[in-house]
Order: sequence, then C-alpha cells, then structure tokens
Amino acid sequence: MYYIGIDLGTSAVKLLLMEEDGSIRRIVSREYPLSFPHPGWSEQNPEDWIAACTDGILELVSDIDAAQVRGIGAGGQMHGLVALDRSGRVIRPAILWNDGRTQKETDWLNESIGREQLMQCTGNIAFAGFTAPKLLWMRENEPENFRQIDKIMLPKDYINYRLTGVHCTDYSDASGTLLLDVQNKRWSPEMLEIVGLSERQMPQLFESSAPVGTLTEKAAEALGLPRSVIVAAGAGDNAAAAVGTGVVGSGGCNISLGTSGTIFISSDHFLPDPSHALHSFAHADGGWHLMGCMLSAASCNKWWMDDILRSADYTGEQSGILPERLGRSHVYYLPYLMGERAPHNDAMARSCFLGMTMDTTREDMTQAVLEGVAFGIRDSLEAAKKLGLQVTSSMICGGGAKSTLWKAIVADVLNIELTVPETEQGPGYGGAILAAVAAGAYPDVKTAADTLIRTTDRILPDPETAALYDEKYKVYHSLYPALKPLFPAF
Ligand code: XUL
Repeated sequence: MYYIGIDLGTSAVKLLLMEEDGSIRRIVSREYPLSFPHPGWSEQNPEDWIAACTDGILELVSDIDAAQVRGIGAGGQMHGLVALDRSGRVIRPAILWNDGRTQKETDWLNESIGREQLMQCTGNIAFAGFTAPKLLWMRENEPENFRQIDKIMLPKDYINYRLTGVHCTDYSDASGTLLLDVQNKRWSPEMLEIVGLSERQMPQLFESSAPVGTLTEKAAEALGLPRSVIVAAGAGDNAAAAVGTGVVGSGGCNISLGTSGTIFISSDHFLPDPSHALHSFAHADGGWHLMGCMLSAASCNKWWMDDILRSADYTGEQSGILPERLGRSHVYYLPYLMGERAPHNDAMARSCFLGMTMDTTREDMTQAVLEGVAFGIRDSLEAAKKLGLQVTSSMICGGGAKSTLWKAIVADVLNIELTVPETEQGPGYGGAILAAVAAGAYPDVKTAADTLIRTTDRILPDPETAALYDEKYKVYHSLYPALKPLFPAF
C-alpha cells in the first residue's frame, strides 16, 4: 500500500510517495508562480496548485500499480484566503500568508475590537497575514467580490475540495484564520459576525487525521487513481511538519527553516500567550501548540544568494565561514523582507544590514543573513521561555536545514540540541502519515509517528560560541525597536 503526502508550499508543491513501512519511494516537485501585484502583496492562482498537484501525482505513481494507493494527505501553506462563488469558481487570486496589505484591518481588529476580546473568542490576536483581516480588506476594497463569496477555504482545503468535492478544513489550519475558537474547536460566532460571514460559508471542521472523503470520479480519472483513495483532512504546513518530524504529544519542538521560519512547541492543552508573540493553535495530533512564525527565513538566504550575489553555489558561498568566525562577526542582518510576524507584528518592518566596516567580506554578509534568521527564531524562543516552557532540544527541518553551517548557527544561537529526521520533507511526510491514519493503517497520529519516524543526526551547541551569541543577541534584539520609527519612511 502507498500513501501520497502533499506539501503545498509557497513557491512549489512537493509530493512524496510513502510505502507502508514509512520509507519514501519517490519525491517530485512542481513550481508555480507567486505574484506581488503591489509592494507587500502576495498572491497565487489556486488553479496553478491544482495543475502542479495533478502533474506531480501522475509522475509520482507512474511506475507503480496505482490500485495500491490508499490515501492522500496534505500539509499546506496556512492563512491564505481562497474564496469560491456559488458555482464553485475561485473569485479572485488567493491572498497568501505573507501578504502585508491588511495592516489597517489588523490594527482595527486589535485596537477597536480589542486584543482581549480577540483572545477570548479565538485564543489569538490579529496578525497581518491571518485570514480574518483579509476578509475585512476584501469587504472594504472589493465589495463586489466579497458579495459573491459562497464559501471560503484555506489553500490545502482547495486541493481536498477538488479531490473529493467536500468543503472541509482541519483544526490546525482553521486556527490561523482568526475565526476559530481554538480552545473549543468550533467557529467563533462573534468573529464570523465581525467579518460578515455566516457559518454556512465556512468549511466543515475535522481532526487532521480524519477521512473527509474519497476521490470524485473526475479526480480519480485525472490522476489515474482508484475512486476508493481516502483523503485525510490534512493540516497547516507547520502542524504537518511537526507530525513528519515526530513532534506529537506534549513538550516536543520543531524548527522549520522554510520560506517562513517557525518554532513549533506541542502541548496536550490549550495555552494562550498573553504577550501575543506566539500563536496558540490546534495541532494535527488532536492537541495544541504554540508557534512563533517569521515571515522570511530560508527566503532571506535565497534572496541574498539568487538576487544579490547571483550565485547558485549555496554550499560554496558558506564554505569560507569557518567555525571560529561564529559568534565573532560584528555584522548584523534583520530578516524582515516581507515585514515581520513574530514577535513584532509589523508589516512595515524592513530588512537591513548593519555594522559593516571596510574589511567586511562577502562571507561576513552571508553569515549575517544566516545568523539574522537564527536570532529571529530566538525571539520566539524567548517568548516561549517567558511562558515557563523549557526547550532544550528540537527537531529541525525545511530547505534551510540542508546547510550544516546553518544548523550549527541555530543550535548555538538558541543554545539547544538539534535532531535531524531521516526525511527533511516535514509537511509532505506528515501529510502521508495523516493519510495512513485516515485510511486506518494506524489507530492515531502518535502511534504512526512513533512507528515511522527515524532520526539521523544530532547537533550539540558549542558552549563558548553560545555564550558569544548570547551577547550578540542582546544587540540584535535592540535593533528593531531602534529602527521601528524609520521603517514607514522606507
Ligand atoms: C505560519 C505561516 C507560515 C506558512 C508558510 O503561521 O504563516 O509558516 O504556513 O507556508
């Protein structure tokens, strides 16, 4: 039997075929465009996701007996607004998680409705990028489009909708809409009234590992798969990645260095963050988690390498950064290319290099980029410590985790031990595991993860470098407040 895991990312979809014993038989990837129609906006065409998934699945199953495919599960980029009209047509391009157009609506929610009220209804405050402020933006700026909304859903839910015809979502992804009462796992009537939607327009809620349906005739035909394939509700990509790295149950931690950078701490109980730095969301294992999310992580390095250095040799560019340089550079980089979510909640924040001198080298600046992202994750770790959470070790995944140097920097800056899973395909692997549970191969997510996930490597922090980074972090931490008043002028 095979299970297909889908990681519906921001620049590409990655699909994997998992065998019954958890080994990965094949991974394929398909890119799609991301458009920035105005500075700070970020949109995608949901039809591109469908074309990429269809093409990818066809390749994935091209050399196996397709009748052996038993389930499909997706982890998807969170918070994106996909709006459908009565005929099931997508009304406008999806507005994505890293879109910063909604600062005004976010401020209105936090200040006029009030943070306390939002916390009471949902367990979270508003962040630009969450779905509720996008709906308010649409209502104000595109009233004709807003009037046409029959249903809304999140990006991976659109995949599930096209696979099964079922209008559904899961609790982890629904948490990022700011429309879910996260603690009680139901749509918040107060929040729906605030954004002007009714419960009828909202997707039906499921646990991530629940089966939501089987393939429609049309989907089965397009994919060359049996109609009996079971589709799991799936999860937001961070919750799926946590499943894929074995961070289920209470007190586990996963760091993802993807387009976004996240630190994800699992919990068996609902735990809101009164300082509002961390999101308090449902997990894909039936529990909850706290998460700090930076909007640009591996994307900072990609921008630096591809657009500025114009170098495809990521490893080569990092090879001159020797261990004795770590913790000793005086160049700093603020990773706010798309504004910042945790902990600043500021769509106007911008990236900067600081501290260069005449002898600053290309390597110093590459190092500063990697360190700036690690310091950004540390901001969220500090917020978790304030809540009394002890994080001494973490799993790590995502494209950035391919770099040995970057993993060492993260371990030293956070002063924690890192463990590398055998597969770095966090969300896709998590999606396949959720599919296996939905199809009945395992009784629950924890049993499946405990059985299937294997690790390969451990990175221990170096105490001397960690102490140097402690001092550097104090400087880093003081840069945002000092520069904040200037950002609107950029
Ligand atoms: C999490 C978040 C990002 C996206 C990236 O809150 O916005 O991690 O899910 O795909």
